[in-house]
Amino acid sequence: MLERIEQIREEGRAAISRASDAAAVEEARVGFLGRKAELTTILRGIGELPPEQRGPVGKTGNEVRRELEGLIDEAKARHERAELDDRLAAEAIDVTLPGTPPVLPGHLHPLTRTRREIEDIFVGLGYRVMEGPEVEHDYYNFTALNYPPGHPARMLQDTFYVDAGSLGPDPALVGSDGEPLTVPPGPRDVLLRTHTSPMQIRGMEEQEPPIFIIVPGRVYRRDSDATHTPMFDQVEGLAVGEDITLADLHGTLLTFARAVFGPDRDVRIRPHFFPFTEPSVEVDVSCFRCGGTGRFENDRCSLCKGTGWLEILGAGMVDPNVFGFVGEHGYDPDRVQGFAFGMGIERIAMLKHGVPDLRMFFDNDVRMLEQFR
Ligand code: PHE
Repeated sequence: MLERIEQIREEGRAAISRASDAAAVEEARVGFLGRKAELTTILRGIGELPPEQRGPVGKTGNEVRRELEGLIDEAKARHERAELDDRLAAEAIDVTLPGTPPVLPGHLHPLTRTRREIEDIFVGLGYRVMEGPEVEHDYYNFTALNYPPGHPARMLQDTFYVDAGSLGPDPALVGSDGEPLTVPPGPRDVLLRTHTSPMQIRGMEEQEPPIFIIVPGRVYRRDSDATHTPMFDQVEGLAVGEDITLADLHGTLLTFARAVFGPDRDVRIRPHFFPFTEPSVEVDVSCFRCGGTGRFENDRCSLCKGTGWLEILGAGMVDPNVFGFVGEHGYDPDRVQGFAFGMGIERIAMLKHGVPDLRMFFDNDVRMLEQFR
């Protein structure tokens, strides 16, 4: 019996070292240590052996079992490690390869496209593109635009005020160049600009007349519904010279409207009020869906609500009081005059592309954005 156990030891060692993969090792385990294996049967039958054989057979048998168990565990681990290495090498993924199918290149956001389209039109008319701060002084956003402190028209553009205290206690009024910072006159409030019109003032401070600028940029208001978001985009326009009239404003906006909405468009101006223009107007473009008739497919046109007109922007002749704030930069209201206009980029894009809800521009839903490829 002991001899047989030693044979099993040798056979086991040989089988395990012959096993060339984890599956073969497992086969050896079943064959030598499994429930039906010879060694298992021997050990199970010890009780039936003559008493003097039980000790030696049990001792050797268990020793062989432990040895083979150890060899099997070791062989299994070795094979599994090797097989994993092989798999890792074979299935390595080159993340620099294009995907399948290749991912389409990205494209501009519809608002960016619309902004650039507007810029291109005005650059073609000789305007310069300027940009300015979104965090603005009360002076530029309101006071110098002829909204005196406390004027009720300020309430029409409720906004977000920046807590000056959040900038630190009593910030030293010195710029990064060491020069003293001049705080503009009027209320010392700092706010997120409610429109791009402050750039009328900053533009005129920077450049003597004549001036032809457009200013795209973000603006902020405390508003939120299907046609208003707390942040949106505007393009401001300013043209000042010696003999610029309301007729020039009309012609400029007609050119603009036809470039954006089609060559058959017309524009009309209606009286309105803005503190910084006099007279002030609102500008409508003839509806491009119904051709200005108000009727579409035998029904009331849904785009212009049957009116034949779509409101696109606010405008007017620069109020002489506004020139009063930039008089030292060459803007003498007795010598120069001009017009200003301001439009919402989202509004232009919504009209042009039939987008029903302003918030869709900011949801980042690719199903919507992909339509602007
Ligand atoms: N700033 C005005 C607004 O946001 C638009 C405007 C700009 C009106 C320039 C007249 C002149 O409503």
